[in-house]
Amino acid sequence: MAHEAVLLGAGERGRHVYGAYAKRRPDRLRFTAVADPDGQRRDLFGREHGIPPSMRFRDWPELLEAERAPVLFIASPDRCHAEQAVAALERGLHVLLEKPAAHTLEESARVLAAARRSRGRLTVCHVLRHTPFFSALNGLLASGRLGEPVSIEHREDTAYWYSAHSFVRGNWAKAAAATPRIVQMCCHDFDLLAWNLEAAAGGVRVTRMQSFGSLLEFRPERAPEGASDRCTDPCPAAPACPYDARRLYLGPDRTGLPVHTISDDLSPEGRLRALREGPYGRCVYTAGSDVVDHQTVSMELSSGATAVLVMNGHAARQTRTALYHGTRGSVRAVFGGSPTIEFTDRSGGGPVRIPFEAAAGGHGGGDEGLIEDFLDSLEGAETAEDSAEVWFESHLLAFSAEEARLSGGVLDIDRRRTGYL
Ligand SMILES: NC(=O)c1ccc[n+]([C@@H]2O[C@H](COP(=O)([O-])OP(=O)(O)OC[C@H]3O[C@@H](n4cnc5c(N)ncnc54)[C@H](O)[C@@H]3O)[C@@H](O)[C@H]2O)c1
Repeated sequence: MAHEAVLLGAGERGRHVYGAYAKRRPDRLRFTAVADPDGQRRDLFGREHGIPPSMRFRDWPELLEAERAPVLFIASPDRCHAEQAVAALERGLHVLLEKPAAHTLEESARVLAAARRSRGRLTVCHVLRHTPFFSALNGLLASGRLGEPVSIEHREDTAYWYSAHSFVRGNWAKAAAATPRIVQMCCHDFDLLAWNLEAAAGGVRVTRMQSFGSLLEFRPERAPEGASDRCTDPCPAAPACPYDARRLYLGPDRTGLPVHTISDDLSPEGRLRALREGPYGRCVYTAGSDVVDHQTVSMELSSGATAVLVMNGHAARQTRTALYHGTRGSVRAVFGGSPTIEFTDRSGGGPVRIPFEAAAGGHGGGDEGLIEDFLDSLEGAETAEDSAEVWFESHLLAFSAEEARLSGGVLDIDRRRTGYL
């Protein structure tokens, strides 16, 4: 029988990931109520899922009062998560919570405390754990073939156009309104690091951390001579500008993410109107972004090994790369494009390819895998996230990375962890 669930936030994740899954798998998931302050999105989702107007809410507390479904999906903006998750957990609901779980480390700790007290289950959307690719990497690290990890590097390379969409023109462009970029993009990578460390060297954790980063490119003084404030106005820089919104959003071949987020009307006229009037047509140099476009994080581990995390917003294409060098072997894993995992054993021979299942869908199959695992867990199955603490380590590391960048100091992560757990 399908699980009955309610949704907070019918935007990109709510509609296109969770809503799309429920439409594909009505035997597993059915939405019975929705809350979103945007009336158009609320009604669109309501119509798509056969939710009567009386169960479509502007304000989420009213939904919690009115609805009795045992499962809640939270896909609202970052700053809403903690309050909504705590309220739902206090009611004993099972919660699938978009990452980051909260917009500060203190609020994340509040969510953790509520999860520990609740009879409901909390899963934070670390989708990459649920991909065949990262499961294979984790399995290889758990096999012991690497030996003891010595030097680790995780890279999160965001394509320039995706950076411009989300972190210059879009939801996460202003530090005051969103979570820091290192949290937003790399809580996944910190989660993978913590998960992989546990697999390769159980008990080894990050002890100290330092970080550097800046907003290098998207500043008014770097705008080309005579650039217009909107790409829909005549702009002498357009032919050479990689960020020309007309090229990024209007071509007939431009579909899917992120194009479908600029407007609910994706006709050529609707898109052009969105660029003329909305945030995604603004010049990237004068749009007012104040968040970093690159950042590095250096970490010392309790074993004496070291790890580096690089967040780069100026890549040609979207990839994640993980390098694990151990005392017995080396792993190179590249996720994105044609994903590959290669292992080289010290005992000789060239690198061998580690097999993993091909997966379709968002985040390399992670979106689908996450929902399936969450629903399975409601039926009693064990999952990778069975402890309420599992997701918290990534948040501890990611929020600390931003604090380390802002302070310029070396943070004692052990001490901070002890303070929260
Ligand atoms: N797991 C992942 O890999 C992943 C990927 C992308 C985004 N996210 C996270 O998902 C969340 C949603 O991102 P998105 O891209 O769908 O954003 P979005 O802006 O497309 O959608 C958010 C929706 O929430 C609605 N909303 C605003 N305030 C609300 C409130 N108080 N209650 C209920 N709804 C409210 C908005 O009107 C909007 O429709 C963010 O926290 C983001 O960080 C996670």
